[in-house]
Order: sequence, then C-alpha cells, then structure tokens
Amino acid sequence: MLPHVTATRYVAPLREGGSLPGIVEADDLGTYVMKFTGAGQGRKTLVAEVICGQLARRLGLRVPELAVLELDPVIGRGEPDPEVQALLKASGGPNLGMDFLPGALGFDPLAFETDSAEAGRVVWFDALINNVDRSWRNPNLLVWHGRMWLIDHGATMIWHHNWPGAAAAAGKAYDASDHVLATFAPDVAGAAAELAPRVTEELLAEAAADVPDAWLADEPGFDSPDALRRAYVEVLLERAAVIGDRITVGERSADKPSQAPEWVRVRLNGKAPQ
Ligand SMILES: Nc1ncnc2c1ncn2[C@@H]1O[C@H](COP(=O)(O)OP(=O)(O)O)[C@@H](O)[C@H]1O
Ligand SMILES: [Mg+2]
Repeated sequence: MLPHVTATRYVAPLREGGSLPGIVEADDLGTYVMKFTGAGQGRKTLVAEVICGQLARRLGLRVPELAVLELDPVIGRGEPDPEVQALLKASGGPNLGMDFLPGALGFDPLAFETDSAEAGRVVWFDALINNVDRSWRNPNLLVWHGRMWLIDHGATMIWHHNWPGAAAAAGKAYDASDHVLATFAPDVAGAAAELAPRVTEELLAEAAADVPDAWLADEPGFDSPDALRRAYVEVLLERAAVIGDRITVGERSADKPSQAPEWVRVRLNGKAPQ
C-alpha cells in the first residue's frame, strides 16, 4: 500500500510538462509533486504512474517515493489562476503524490553522462512499459544527488486505452531511436537478462495492488478493480518475456544543441563528461 497523506497547501504549478502538476505540502510535512485526477489526461495516467513507478523501484531503478494524496479542493480557494482553480475543483479525493526532489535538474544527454549498463536498464524498462515519453526532447529524467531519477510514467501502457486489443499489443516492438539514453550504447541485452526474470507475476501484482480502487472502478469489460489489476499484470508479464529482442536503437532523428550551462556538466555515475 502506498502511504496516504492529505494535502495542506497548494504551493505552485509546474508548467514544464503538459499536465500541470502542482507542488503541494501535506500533513506529513512532506512536499510533493501532485498529479491530479481532474487533469485532461484522466485517471489512467495516474494508474500508469503507480504501476510503472512501483515496478521500476522494485527493479532497482530510482523513482521518487509515491503516495496517495487526498485533496480537499478548498485548499485552492485563494489560488488566483483560473486554470489551477478548475483543476483543483475537479480533483477532490485521492490524487497521486510524488516526493518532490528539491534542486533536481532535468537530465540533459549532452551535459550528463551515464554508462551502458544503466542506459540499458532504463531503455529495457521503458520498452516493457511502452514509454513514449522519455525522448531527448522530453527526457522525464532528473539528476539529483549525482544520480539519475525516473519520473513521469503517465504516457505508458498504451494498451490500457484499448483492452480488447491488449493481448496483441503485449508483443509489439519498441523503437528506442529517440530515447534520451539511446546515445549511451544501452546494453539492452544485458538488461533483459538481468531484469526480465525478476518481472514475475507476484512482483507485478504487488505493483498493481498499490493503485487505489477508485482509479480502477467501472472500467468497461471488468467487473472489479482486481480483475483490471490482473489484466495489467498479464500484459506486462507476457511483454517482459519477449520485449528484449524487439527493441531497436537506431539513429536518432535530429539533434539540438545542449541548453545546459557549463556548471551543470557534473559527473554522473563516476564517469567524466566528454
Ligand atoms: N519528484 C519531482 N521532483 C522535482 N521536480 C519534479 C518532480 N516531478 C516532476 N518534476 C518537475 O516537473 C515537471 C513536470 O512533471 P512531469 O511528471 O514530467 O509531468 P507532465 O506530465 O506534466 O510532463 C518535470 O519535468 C520536472 O521538471
Ligand atoms: Mg513530463
């Protein structure tokens, strides 16, 4: 089970991504990035955040701690931005909280360096969950305390938008050409050998169990939240067994100069940047 906490103060919106997450404080005195059930992308985004985030953590990838964050929209009463007001009003009840990493920097593949083992693990994991949102345009990776952290797993598991076609989607190939770590010679075969055997039914069920029932209720074709959890487990289990051989890391489509200032060119994982 994820920890349950209650939001006590809306601090600020994060306008970098598309979904307008907010920084909030909570009654455990923690600071969280809050992802809202009322956001345009809907509650499936939050389901994906929990299943993929909890799975990544269990596979040894770094993901900030997750929590279920209760929201009483009244905390946004003084919020001047009508867009934020509307989001808070539409999101009463359980939302997703992710531990806020203060001072984290966005990963820039031209400023930071990682090794092929770690790149391989991240690319293999993204192939497993069919993550289309870790490109060099939009890395959704943070650097914090000299290490890489994975965030934003909302745009994954495309099959959950079309359950009747999910079994067929489980074996679909993954094109990692635009992946932000594609240029670090990702050792995908090594990662598959290491991680695929660890993606067991039990491990997947644990990750799916962390999704609040409220986000899984009333899905057409499923008579209970647990039936839907099993569907998530089945697709990922099947995909884990085959996806290692179906990942292409080709030439990326275009390049852009680094936006990173000189001072962020730090050492990551002990390797000097080039
Ligand atoms: N846990 C976190 N700690 C610090 N900053 C974060 C965290 N999560 C997200 N951010 C910042 O907020 C931005 C938007 O969050 P993200 O999860 O990518 O949402 P979106 O769905 O809008 O892309 C990120 O690009 C990052 O800069
Ligand atoms: Mg994002």
